[in-house]
Amino acid sequence: MRSIGCACLVLSCLVAYSSPALLAPIQPAGRAVGTAPASNFALELKGVIRQIPIGDIEKLVQAYLLNDPEFQAVIRAVNSLPAYRFIRQLANQPEVRQLQQWLSQQLILSGGSLKIFDYLELEIKVFNKYPFWSQLVNGIQGFETEFAQVYPVELIRSLLEPSATQTSPLLSELWRRLVALRPVYERVLASAQGKAITNELQRLGVNINGVDAIIRYQFGWTNATWTTPSNNYDYYY
Ligand SMILES: *[C@@H]1O[C@H](CO)[C@@H](O)[C@H](O)[C@H]1NC(C)=O
Repeated sequence: MRSIGCACLVLSCLVAYSSPALLAPIQPAGRAVGTAPASNFALELKGVIRQIPIGDIEKLVQAYLLNDPEFQAVIRAVNSLPAYRFIRQLANQPEVRQLQQWLSQQLILSGGSLKIFDYLELEIKVFNKYPFWSQLVNGIQGFETEFAQVYPVELIRSLLEPSATQTSPLLSELWRRLVALRPVYERVLASAQGKAITNELQRLGVNINGVDAIIRYQFGWTNATWTTPSNNYDYYY
């Protein structure tokens, strides 16, 4: 669920839609000699991504996708042409393309590539693993509740945001660049396409304010958590 769950991973979206033409040329091996030592940015970022419990998320999505009509309707909306165009629009913003390009270059310079994001792709099997799964689903709200319990939004932020324990210069630069994307997010959401898709998701029962709060917190666009009485995420605790 790109816009809800793996929202979390707008990052992964950005990468999934990146065009090969944006990829930086690979540096000849000789170039590294005599320059600054290779950073371990690729390993650092991989370490962050691997904190996302993708197996648990896959099981949750599978149970809902196979058994829950409300969730199925949301997935159809997420896969609709307007939603696809919306995500393309987001991915094509100049600031987003610049971030992709920077990310790709830094990963290549540290011996990695954008492939480290492949880990976030969900592979959903078409049969229930356990028959009782069909009894456990509880509408889109049930999914949101369970997703909030599984996805470690605070941990991921703490691993990216500079702090006493997060001192990596390149992770800090990535964080700075993510924080700087806020105006892009707001611009695209306010567009006609953005309004159409968010209205449709809301109509289908998605807690748009809650999803928005999580996205904003994840990328440092707000420091407010979603535990305030004004939203529905208090069940998180
Ligand atoms: C969140 O808090 C940090 C540290 O105090 C601050 O640097 C940053 O500007 C704040 N972000 C927002 C969106 O208020």
